[in-house]
Amino acid sequence: LMSYNYILVAKPEPSVSLITLNRPKALNALSSPLFEELNKALKDADDDDAIGAIVLTGSEKAFAAGADIKEMQNKTYADAFKTRFLGDWAQLFTIRKPIIAAVSGYALGGGCELALMCDIILASPTAKFGQPEINLGVIPGGGGSQRLAHVIGKSRTMELVLTGRNISAQEAAAWGMVSRVVGEGEGEVVREAVEMAKVISSKSQIAIQAAKEVVNAAYELNLAEGLRFERRIFHGSWDHVFAELKSSPPSIPALPGVGPR
Ligand code: CAA
Repeated sequence: LMSYNYILVAKPEPSVSLITLNRPKALNALSSPLFEELNKALKDADDDDAIGAIVLTGSEKAFAAGADIKEMQNKTYADAFKTRFLGDWAQLFTIRKPIIAAVSGYALGGGCELALMCDIILASPTAKFGQPEINLGVIPGGGGSQRLAHVIGKSRTMELVLTGRNISAQEAAAWGMVSRVVGEGEGEVVREAVEMAKVISSKSQIAIQAAKEVVNAAYELNLAEGLRFERRIFHGSWDHVFAELKSSPPSIPALPGVGPR
C-alpha cells in the first residue's frame, strides 16, 4: 500500500476509489507536493481494472482553500514560467474514469477550479464556492475564468472573478455549477458520491469512459465537430457489446435478440 503525506486513499466499495485531500492545517491548500500525490493516486485508480469511478473529497471545513498562497507568493514570473507552475494540474484530464467531487466547506480559488475539473460535483449544504484571487491582487490560474464561463455564463463568472464573493451550495446548484445539494449531516456528501460512483462502476467501463470523453468534448469542440465525434464513438461502441456478449459470462446485461447467446 502506497503511503502519502497529503492525501488519504481508500476503497469504500471494491469498485470505488476514494481520495481525500488531507492537509487540514492548511485547509487543503493545493501545494505542488499535494498535487503530485493526487496525480499519482488518480493514475493508480485509473490503471486498476477493479475500479470503475473515483470520488475526490476534502474535509468538512474545506474541500480546498485554493492553491498554496505561501508557495506562490514569492515566485517571480521567470520561476513560474520555467517550472510550468500549476502545469501538472492538467494530468487530471488524462484520467479516463469518472471523477466525482464531493464538496463540503470552502472550495475557493484553486479548490473551486479543482472541483470544476472533475466530471460531477455534489455539494454539501456547507459548501462555499468562489474565486477570491482578486482579493490577493491576482487572477484565477487553474482554469476558473474559462470553466466557470462555460458552466455559469459570463455575467455570473465576471461577478465571482471581479468581486471575489463566495457563493453558497444553493446558489451553485441554482446556477448549474453542481449536480445537487445533498442532505445535511457529516459525511453525507461523500456517502452520496460513493453511491453514485458505485452505480457508474456497475456499467460497461468502456461505455462509461467513452461517454465521459464525448461529454467533455462538448467543452472543447464546436457543435458540428462534437456531434461528428459523438457519432463516431457511438458507432465504435457497439463493437465491444458484441465482444462481451460472446464472452461468457457477459459483464453487461444481454440485449434482447442480439448476438449469439
Ligand atoms: N494557501 C495556503 N495556506 C492557506 C490557504 C491557502 N490558499 N488557505 C488557508 N490557509 C491556511 C492559513 O494560512 C492558516 O494557516 P496558519 O494557521 O498557519 O496561519 C490555515 O490555513 C487556516 O486558515 P484561516 O486561519 O485563515 O481559517 P479561517 O477559517 O479563518 O478562514 C478562509 C478560512 C476564509 C478559507 C481563509 O483561510 C482564506 O481566505 N484562505 C485563502 C483563500 C484564497 O485566497 N484562495 C485562493 C488562493 S490563490 C489560487 O487558488 C490561485 C489559483 O487560481 C490557482
